[in-house]
Amino acid sequence: MVQMEPKWLVLLAVILGLSWFAETQQGLKPGFYSSSCPKAEAIVRSTVETHFKEDPTIAAGVLRLHFQDCFVQGCDASILITEGSGERDALPNAGLRGFDVIDDAKTQLEALCPGVVSCADILALAARDAVALSGGANWSVPTGRRDGTNVSSSPDVSNLPAPNDSIPVLRQKFADKGLNTNDLVTLVGAHTIGQANCSSFQYRLYNFTTRGNADPTINPAFLAQLQALCPEGGNGSTRVALDTNSQTKFDVSFFKNVRDGNGVLESDQRLFGDSDTQKIVKNYAGNGRGLLGLRFYFEFPKAMIKMSSIGVKTGTQGEIRKTCSKSN
Ligand code: HEM
Ligand SMILES: *[C@@H]1O[C@H](CO)[C@@H](O)[C@H](O)[C@H]1NC(C)=O
Ligand SMILES: *[C@@H]1O[C@H](CO)[C@@H](O)[C@H](O)[C@H]1NC(C)=O
Ligand SMILES: *[C@@H]1O[C@H](CO)[C@@H](O)[C@H](O)[C@H]1NC(C)=O
Ligand SMILES: *[C@@H]1O[C@H](CO)[C@@H](O)[C@H](O)[C@H]1NC(C)=O
Ligand SMILES: *[C@@H]1O[C@H](CO)[C@@H](O)[C@H](O)[C@H]1NC(C)=O
Ligand SMILES: *[C@@H]1O[C@H](CO)[C@@H](O)[C@H](O)[C@H]1NC(C)=O
Repeated sequence: MVQMEPKWLVLLAVILGLSWFAETQQGLKPGFYSSSCPKAEAIVRSTVETHFKEDPTIAAGVLRLHFQDCFVQGCDASILITEGSGERDALPNAGLRGFDVIDDAKTQLEALCPGVVSCADILALAARDAVALSGGANWSVPTGRRDGTNVSSSPDVSNLPAPNDSIPVLRQKFADKGLNTNDLVTLVGAHTIGQANCSSFQYRLYNFTTRGNADPTINPAFLAQLQALCPEGGNGSTRVALDTNSQTKFDVSFFKNVRDGNGVLESDQRLFGDSDTQKIVKNYAGNGRGLLGLRFYFEFPKAMIKMSSIGVKTGTQGEIRKTCSKSN
């Protein structure tokens, strides 16, 4: 019998585990388009790649689009609808970007296989490609989502997490979507890429406590940097990396920053203030028993596959939109 080194056995087990996991999500399955539109995944990938080469920060935009779509009315591409005042115009979504990447892929797919590939699947695939291009894992995405037709003109966005939510509130918001505490910390690791407006966190920098001080959980050296970037009374539109010094690399440095008091959003830093979430942060940061960066690398796809199946429409539900910004 062929002898395998233990590390390869572990890797094999992880891959088998992941593919089993991918097969069991809400009626979705990997390779849904393998006969109806065999080039679908390659086209999405090359489109994301083209935009990424021009602007690597677009990866973050696309990943966040998919997350926000899934948390409001499920992963049904309702976030892409522009008619009425839908999710796209709802307040917590301000600053969303990457719509052009999805539209670009959709245009090519409609030319090749009209009416076949859903906008919801394009979003899920593009989010995976964005992570892989940024140096994260490259996993197999279960597909077969259909697009929402019944997009509310005033969607309930109260279940979207806010940066000033407490850990119990964040846990509850994730639990409501079938995601546990481990998924919460893992998915927030998406903040290893991308940026935030000063307006999303500058309340932490000035007069945060009743005594007029900044948020005491911010590392003092980092506080000075953030105050320089976001002066008191400024208009708040300066963009700041969520993962200082590593904003385009999908790595564990976000967790090291949180561990060291260099988290930008209050919700990111609070992950270190709660004993359960702190354990997971330390583990990913390489401070615990985890296999250094490998642990986050393998956990992220699992959590994404769960998130990407929230409230999906399959079979005869919904429709395949011709244009992602409006229902047929
Ligand atoms: C605790 C839950 C979360 C909260 C409170 C939160 C909040 C935020 C906020 C406030 C921003 C900055 C927006 C701006 O100022 O432009 C942001 C950016 C971002 N979020 Fe989250 N988020 C959470 C979870 C997630 C998850 C689960 C993902 C994806 C799996 C994600 C992906 C991103 C990305 C990639 C960016 C950067 C976007 C860009 O550069 O355009 N976030 N998030
Ligand atoms: C960030 O600032 C830009 C430019 O001022 C604005 O368009 C966008 O809506 C802001 N985003 C958030 C989350 O406030
Ligand atoms: C991800 O995997 C697919 C299939 O093996 C491959 O074609 C693609 O180039 C990979 N993407 C990245 C960014 O490595
Ligand atoms: C469609 O929208 C109505 C009103 O907003 C809602 O009651 C109904 O459950 C929705 N149907 C689906 C399939 O989402
Ligand atoms: C968070 O900030 C929003 C907007 O400024 C505010 O309406 C809300 O009350 C705050 N929530 C908490 C828990 O402080
Ligand atoms: C800080 O905020 C409190 C209310 O929260 C306010 O009374 C006080 O004037 C503020 N101080 C400064 C320096 O802005
Ligand atoms: C905000 O301030 C910056 C720098 O002072 C300026 O370049 C920018 O145009 C301002 N943006 C808005 C929306 O006022």
